Amino acid sequence: MRIRCGSTRFVLLVGDRAIKIGRMRPLRLLFRLLLLPFSKKRREHFFAKYGHTFLQAAWKDLCAGLYANRGEYEYCQAFKDPRVMPTIVLLLKGWIVIQPRGRPLLPNDVRSQLRVFEKCRGRECEMTFPEQFAVNADGQVVLVDYGRAETRTALKLG
Ligand SMILES: Nc1ncnc2c1ncn2[C@@H]1O[C@H](COP(=O)(O)OP(=O)(O)OP(=O)(O)O)[C@@H](O)[C@H]1O
Ligand SMILES: [Mg+2]
Repeated sequence: MRIRCGSTRFVLLVGDRAIKIGRMRPLRLLFRLLLLPFSKKRREHFFAKYGHTFLQAAWKDLCAGLYANRGEYEYCQAFKDPRVMPTIVLLLKGWIVIQPRGRPLLPNDVRSQLRVFEKCRGRECEMTFPEQFAVNADGQVVLVDYGRAETRTALKLG
């Protein structure tokens, strides 16, 4: 078994499955809240990204992995998008989701197949980074991390 630690999820790579477990991020939230009074830009980003009321934004930041998991599962059920690794099981209200396990990209995969995602690039978009992709059982490069709402929006537009 291998363990990957993402910014919002722990990922257990077990056999042919990737089990994504949402993380709580209390320290990150605490530091963010301590900095908020001093920066208008940070405040605007915080509320725009996580929610309009303070409690809603703080909760969504704390549980970003839960919302990433739910977002991936719902996107997958709604769109059956072949560009993403399917999210096939949702457990514990979304704290855990399961995907097929892909293999990491090799340099050739990046050069030859990643271009399909180039138009979806953006500051908040996971598609900018090769580690967000894997190669599925059919040899296709697919996105394994589409937890952010911005990424799913880019996929819908792409
Ligand atoms: N289906 C999968 N198959 C193989 N590896 C995977 C799979 N899903 C995730 N991983 C690995 O686990 C890492 C973390 O997963 P993921 O990016 O989904 O979590 P995250 O918390 O959203 O990460 P971050 O926000 O830091 O990008 C990925 O970069 C990838 O290496
Ligand atoms: Mg990721």
